[in-house]
Amino acid sequence: MAAKIFPLVLLVATSACLAQQPAPLITNVEHRTTVSLDGPWHAIVDPYDTGLKDYRSHIRSQDGFFQNAKPHTPQDLIEYSFDKSETLNVPGDWNTQRPSLLFYEGTIWYEKSFSYRPKPHTRVFLHVSAANYFSIVGLNGTVICDHEGGFTSFNCEVTPLLHEGENFVVIYVNNARKAEGIPTLSTDWWNYGGLTRDVQLVEVPERFIQDSFIHLIPGTRDQVAAWVKLSDATADQRVTVRIPELAIEKSTTTDRSGVADFSFSDKRLQLWSPEQPKLYKVEIETSAGGSGTDASKDKIEDEIGFRSIEVRGHDILLNGAPTFLRGVSIHEEAPYRSGRANSDDDAKTLLGWAKELGANFVRLAHYPHNEHMLRMADRMGLMVWSEIPVYWDIKWDNPATLADAQNQLTENITRDKNRASIVIWSVGNETPVTDARTKFMQILVKTARTLDSTRLLSAALQVQHHDGTTRVIDDPLGADLDVLGCNEYIGWYEGKPEDADKANWKSPYDKPLVMSEFGGSARSGLHGNSDARFTEEYQEDLYKHQTAMLDRIPFLGGASPWILMDFRSPRRLLPGIQDFYNRKGLISDRGEKKKAFYVLQKWYRQKETTDHSAH
Ligand code: GCU
Repeated sequence: MAAKIFPLVLLVATSACLAQQPAPLITNVEHRTTVSLDGPWHAIVDPYDTGLKDYRSHIRSQDGFFQNAKPHTPQDLIEYSFDKSETLNVPGDWNTQRPSLLFYEGTIWYEKSFSYRPKPHTRVFLHVSAANYFSIVGLNGTVICDHEGGFTSFNCEVTPLLHEGENFVVIYVNNARKAEGIPTLSTDWWNYGGLTRDVQLVEVPERFIQDSFIHLIPGTRDQVAAWVKLSDATADQRVTVRIPELAIEKSTTTDRSGVADFSFSDKRLQLWSPEQPKLYKVEIETSAGGSGTDASKDKIEDEIGFRSIEVRGHDILLNGAPTFLRGVSIHEEAPYRSGRANSDDDAKTLLGWAKELGANFVRLAHYPHNEHMLRMADRMGLMVWSEIPVYWDIKWDNPATLADAQNQLTENITRDKNRASIVIWSVGNETPVTDARTKFMQILVKTARTLDSTRLLSAALQVQHHDGTTRVIDDPLGADLDVLGCNEYIGWYEGKPEDADKANWKSPYDKPLVMSEFGGSARSGLHGNSDARFTEEYQEDLYKHQTAMLDRIPFLGGASPWILMDFRSPRRLLPGIQDFYNRKGLISDRGEKKKAFYVLQKWYRQKETTDHSAH
């Protein structure tokens, strides 16, 4: 039976900690009764945090912007007005909604008024799918919770504060970068701020299904293990799990911590794979034990795929069969319009291109992407590498930084653990090898394994040293991982593309390698000799040398070249070529395929044929 460790509410000390921590995360909100608050929100741009602190930097607990105050007489002094302020769309980053906000990093206050009718025996949570980076939530003038981390969901209970008729929610969002943050000060992606994903009210019964984990036991084809956790620690509550399509129905009761455990086997289970992304409708239902009322009855469903993922020596085994991960890396950049991707359509476009490449795997870099993306990967049949933004050099010795990283990892796994598509949790990218760093990363690996023992752990490492023309992957963190990830840029940051022809690879670890990044930049439509940087021909040539080199690596289990689509970056400043875009995409931000796209497509077609003939 998979370990049942529930997410501890990690205390994150922040200067402006006005509120309590969010409530435990309600998972599978997609299948809950909800009231969407998406759409236009009034927004106040507040570069000096005037709405939060007075001129002495004291928190304005009485007259801050959470009050959404309005003058009642001409004498009243109110120096802000949400009603008179322009709006910003939610979900959406603020940077791409107004030219004046493209580079803006700081605070913006969001306000939304809505009418609501409270229902009997119903609890209500305000659910924010993501707010970058630090946010404080207030309802009807009362501050209720705050959250740190720009790429994971959180929710706060609002039941006692909601009233019949008009209500208003105010959310303070600040995306200022900070050295002790996750990510830290420098990233090669745009620091898109705001309420970047859906915001909604979630309605649940007084006692409800808080969380669940249903999965195939690794290494089996028919044994299912599951746990269901209720919103409170009440024993003897009857819980039923059903898979109607297979007429499976299992019931048991909760233990004193409000958890019900299940295990059963069924030889008829069709396993999920990229070729056949089979999802079953799974129902979970609770009925009141003993003298319980309807208020403690709950029912929810989800689409769950059953698959096993393991490693054996250099092989990655999907459902017991060695499977090469034909991948590509993807940023959460919206195709065609730029800014944060946040919808089913965005996911369909990006993952559709990956499928066109012949991919069966995507590396979602460098932070948890929106839930639409994961559910689309489940449906379309793409395995996923999910990562938290422990990126480059962070404050390894800072306990608050570690708590933040652990919290983001915990929220990521809590939200997504029922997604069959996710096969790898990555704890970071290109982090420098120091003792403090390795200790920090080892704690993250342990946290992930404690929360989920059914998936593989990895990280994007770098070559530590060369032995002649042989590159050695012997980062000490490799010992703690199941899959080695490695980023290399032979032919772009290092030497010429043809240097790959002489490059060999080795590792002391008997583990599969996913070459998690390689590539070079090309401006779509720029043509020239293959040795002219930024031309499509240069990128095409680089991919030819790279794929030939990768074929020679005996322990290669997969690849996710950098990157599917050009994306916005504050570090890419070359006029007429980059213009604040990283141009390593195989597709431009306007959807134009570059020549290298077809080199990779051809290689993946070969790999697919080899894989099939091996099975
Ligand atoms: C790094 C990094 C990416 C970055 C890429 C690049 O390896 O992981 O985030 O965008 O290289 O330089 O293009």
